[in-house]
Amino acid sequence: MQTAVQTNPTTNTDTFPIKGTDYIEFYVGNAKQAAIYYQATFGFQWTAYRGPETGHKETVSYVLEQGKVRFVLTSALHPEHEVARHVAEHGDGVRVLALWVDDVSHSFSSAVDRGAKAALEPHILSDRDGEVKMAAIHTYGETIHMLVERKAYQGVFLPGYEARKNDFPIKPVGLKYVDHCVGNVELGDMNRWVKFYQDVLGFKLLITFDDKDIATEYTALMSKVVSNGNGYIKFPINEPAKGLKKSQIEEYLDFYRGAGVQHIALATDDILFTVDTLRNHGVDFLYVPDNYYEDVLDRVGKIDEHIDDLKRLNILVDRDEDGYLLQIFTKPVQDRPTVFYEIIQRKGAKSFGKGNFKALFEAIEREQEVRGTL
Ligand code: FE2
Repeated sequence: MQTAVQTNPTTNTDTFPIKGTDYIEFYVGNAKQAAIYYQATFGFQWTAYRGPETGHKETVSYVLEQGKVRFVLTSALHPEHEVARHVAEHGDGVRVLALWVDDVSHSFSSAVDRGAKAALEPHILSDRDGEVKMAAIHTYGETIHMLVERKAYQGVFLPGYEARKNDFPIKPVGLKYVDHCVGNVELGDMNRWVKFYQDVLGFKLLITFDDKDIATEYTALMSKVVSNGNGYIKFPINEPAKGLKKSQIEEYLDFYRGAGVQHIALATDDILFTVDTLRNHGVDFLYVPDNYYEDVLDRVGKIDEHIDDLKRLNILVDRDEDGYLLQIFTKPVQDRPTVFYEIIQRKGAKSFGKGNFKALFEAIEREQEVRGTL
């Protein structure tokens, strides 16, 4: 079976209501420097901080925001700390995909009743700005979903954090919200995790891509996209498929030492401006050859943007029955070839750029070849 698109999820049977992505937390080796990277290149505002100066002795965390995107960068201050162990194992990577919910206790107990593994029991954090209720469940690899209820909180982020501002001028690049977060899992595990999201969190299967959809001459992968009741949260899950050479998913799993978040897609409503600015700030993108642009308009039809701008900035375009989308992928943002970003602008399209898979995976293979890991 090739690509199958399911009907849109309905909201009237939502067994696990989620209001949106609350934050994404990365465990990193040097949060201070990582925070500067996200400010100087991706144009994030520094909004909050927790560390020894605020009475927290074990870890430091920098909170960065742009539009509705909120990242937390956390490092350990001692080698014995869990964060240090996580970084030693995985390199810099995503530990927490936090979901904003109305009722943490109910969400947590219903998830655990339906088979979720508890990571953190429901508890209340409070300070002079009010209280936040949190709990967490495990998902693939060492990744967790923190559930966050913040009805009674007026503070800048979470209790214990203090407000901060950038130390230097920031140029926002127009990022609006998290469009989707993709996980890579081990061979044979994709369906297990799709079932987890369906059974435990009430997600619906949105799209299936098999290895005929996503294959080059050398490598292949399979992917299924699940989406929550209101459609705000989309989690594609990839697993490697058999190919002649080592797939990008296997390379990720080798370097991340297991399953984890592969890429985060950030939405913009002006991708030409966003990518132009990111390039000027030094962000490295995957290279797509000029010949991609020779026949792309035959494939996607009329678009608002000028093809020369797309070619100059190396932006990809694809169309589905609802409209079209523009997208581009960064190279990995840490030394291990693991986490990277997608910048996406949707002009009606609800899909994920299937028409670009081949060009994209060939671009990744060129990078793998240079790394000697193909
Ligand atoms: Fe994506």
